[in-house]
Amino acid sequence: MSFNVRVLPSGRSFAAGADEPLLAAAIRQGIGLPYGCKDGACGSCKCKMLEGAVVHGTHQLKALTPQEQADGFILTCCGVAHSDVVIESRQVTDESAFPVRKMPVRVASLQRLSADVMVIRLQLPASDTLKYHAGQYVEFMLAGGARRSYSMANAPHTQQQAPGIELHVRHMPGGKFTDHVFGAMKEKEILRIEGPYGSFFLREDSAKPLVLLASGTGFAPLKALVQHMQHKGITRTATLYWGGRRPADLYMHDWMLAKAAEMPHLRYIPVVSDALPEDGWSGRTGFVHKAVLQDFPDLSGHQVYACGAPIVVESAQREYTATAGLPAEEFFADSFTSEADKAQAAVADPL
Ligand SMILES: Cc1cc2nc3c(=O)[nH]c(=O)nc-3n(C[C@H](O)[C@H](O)[C@H](O)COP(=O)(O)OP(=O)(O)OC[C@H]3O[C@@H](n4cnc5c(N)ncnc54)[C@H](O)[C@@H]3O)c2cc1C
Ligand code: FES
Repeated sequence: MSFNVRVLPSGRSFAAGADEPLLAAAIRQGIGLPYGCKDGACGSCKCKMLEGAVVHGTHQLKALTPQEQADGFILTCCGVAHSDVVIESRQVTDESAFPVRKMPVRVASLQRLSADVMVIRLQLPASDTLKYHAGQYVEFMLAGGARRSYSMANAPHTQQQAPGIELHVRHMPGGKFTDHVFGAMKEKEILRIEGPYGSFFLREDSAKPLVLLASGTGFAPLKALVQHMQHKGITRTATLYWGGRRPADLYMHDWMLAKAAEMPHLRYIPVVSDALPEDGWSGRTGFVHKAVLQDFPDLSGHQVYACGAPIVVESAQREYTATAGLPAEEFFADSFTSEADKAQAAVADPL
């Protein structure tokens, strides 16, 4: 048995099985709904249900509050249709969705760029390339069924000159995958990935100026996006804010300075929250998402792309829409949620 899901205002429809989350059905059928974690933790897939009945599996309370649920909002990643459904999703894209593939990859190189950031370059099967939009991510399929997501840090076109994909991985002590990356992982190790996933990519049908906001390794997909903009000759005004606790956390600072020098439409604002005197830091200080508000108290004509630590992404979304007039549908984000976030207060709908 399956149900019909209609998405407004685009009018696109797709079928969802009786046990299948709406998002999984949409991805399977190439419908570009917005999403991030696919796991009920980030809230990126939240949308309004205009008609029908949806029952949620396990999800975090902060991703969908009881009040939002009472107001008719749903999470498509863990919501299953119990009737035909009509949802409103203004971010639905007509971008060609690339096929999601599983493939073996080989660790081509491991490069430590700061105390807790490793750049992993992965070699794909011979003469293969991965089709994706700059900003999207892949999942590692780990033993025992666990999965971990990492955003491509190189734009797709760079695979022509240097085959393979680049990932920026931050060590989370005690973490299943990153303990391995910073411990036993060696070059030539074989892993399995699946992708591309995600709706965090540049909406090229808009001419609005861009605010690009990264915290920590949230820089990875924005690096890909900057490379893509340069390659395509996209000249929308863009200001990239990159936040870290200490200057060393901005592990590709020189790369960003060089890009900003090459691209007249791109400005780069590094922001450090906990600089020590020995850092000799003379740049901006404080919370990176606040620096955006200081420079752009009115974001009503902008698009914002935010990526990295969930607290930064959530604060940016809340404050930019509430105090700077950013339209909710002009905020695009990938929140780097982890098992720690998923362990926070979780609920599921009673059946
Ligand atoms: C869309 C998306 C894109 C991402 N892209 C990137 C990226 O480009 N770069 C990047 O560095 N990260 C990225 N992430 C985060 C990444 O997927 C992992 O979550 C992160 O690297 C941690 O993985 P891990 O297996 O090492 O840690 P996990 O096993 O997930 O553990 C994370 C932390 O939580 C603790 N923990 C584990 N289980 C529990 C529990 N039950 N209760 C409380 N604490 C617990 C662990 O000790 C550890 O400190 C992304 C996430 C998403 C959703
Ligand atoms: S994609 Fe649904 S909550 Fe993250």
